[in-house]
Amino acid sequence: MGKDGLTGKGVNTRLTHSGNKPSDFFGFVNPPVAHGSTILFPDTATMVSGTQKYTYGTRGTPTTDALATAIDELEGSAGTIIVPSGLAAIVVPLLSFLKSGDHLLLVDTIYYPTRRLADTVLAGFGVEVDYYDPLIGAEISALMKPNTKVVFTESPGSNTYEVQDIPAIAAVAHAAGAIVMMDNTWATPLLFKPLDFGVDISIHAATKYPAGHSDILLGTVSANSQCFDQLYQTFVALGVCSGPDDVYQVLRGLRTMGVRLERHEKSALEIATWLAGQPGVGKVLHPALPGNAGHDIWKRDFSGSSGIFSIVLQGATTGQAHAFLDALDIFGLGYSWGGFESLAVHVSLNDRTVSNRDYGGQVIRLNIGLEDVADLKEDIEKGLRAAAIST
Ligand SMILES: Cc1ncc(COP(=O)(O)O)c(C=O)c1O
Repeated sequence: MGKDGLTGKGVNTRLTHSGNKPSDFFGFVNPPVAHGSTILFPDTATMVSGTQKYTYGTRGTPTTDALATAIDELEGSAGTIIVPSGLAAIVVPLLSFLKSGDHLLLVDTIYYPTRRLADTVLAGFGVEVDYYDPLIGAEISALMKPNTKVVFTESPGSNTYEVQDIPAIAAVAHAAGAIVMMDNTWATPLLFKPLDFGVDISIHAATKYPAGHSDILLGTVSANSQCFDQLYQTFVALGVCSGPDDVYQVLRGLRTMGVRLERHEKSALEIATWLAGQPGVGKVLHPALPGNAGHDIWKRDFSGSSGIFSIVLQGATTGQAHAFLDALDIFGLGYSWGGFESLAVHVSLNDRTVSNRDYGGQVIRLNIGLEDVADLKEDIEKGLRAAAIST
């Protein structure tokens, strides 16, 4: 099936068939992995005319086009760039739309390396940086300045998963002449489509659910028609292109992302609900559980939840948090998420500057993988028992 036949089709049909047309490459179901820096031109006339589709490897290849087209199909975007990591997918749009003297607003629950980028590199270039509370909604108007150029959102936020009122924030930002970027990694475009809610630029660490196997680093940035050209020109200027094998692997991962996410969602919800009744567990920070900050907005705007959330070990010490983690066998101790395997980490919230809430204990982030839920519960029980007897 070609791209043209996908309009109005269900999301799993689009995941299965978008990106490349088999008929463009001898009927092969998958696109070629184009290893290329140099691309030859037939003659000088073609070279100077600017009519040849591919001109140099940094600007795009049939492999990057296949993934970018598939992501555009999911995001409803005018164009997508592919970059070497999720963090690069945050760096490139910020560098594209900010210059010295501009003001940048970011949500306080941001992925920490985004904050580090803003406070070091961007602030060093003369960008004014402020943070806002994730529950601010339309009251973000009080923080807008004449020089505010970008509002950077991530919803739900990292580690504590507060859900933001993106349409309200976008309306205020646009009225003030700013554009809105969103790190949409948690939801993927399957569970939330940022551009439908007023966001101009949607960002993904494709490292997580799109790749799905903890073996690839990649990022995607998708923009509406007003923003894509400026984004693409900066992408080309910076030379942050990605290796074709990694790009291919993410397209491969997309084909199964729908079914993987269904399983991640189901298992994570079952474990989160169960954890809410376990001794030693205070809050369960999961957007789909009633009582979580922004739960009503999640219900209004999202079509589901993914497989990562946090728990609070009620009144626990750091030693108890470590005892919990060290007792786990199936959950690995490691960064990142969205892969097939369960992971757990102890989360620090010390970087937050404007939304310091008391969560009542140590926060542990759980990435629920594709293992059997009964085994994962048994593993967590071991952790909770270890935390209870540790001091
Ligand atoms: C919300 C979020 N955005 C972006 C990233 C960055 O992705 P990468 O690890 O590919 O740089 C991460 C990584 O953990 C993340 O959690």
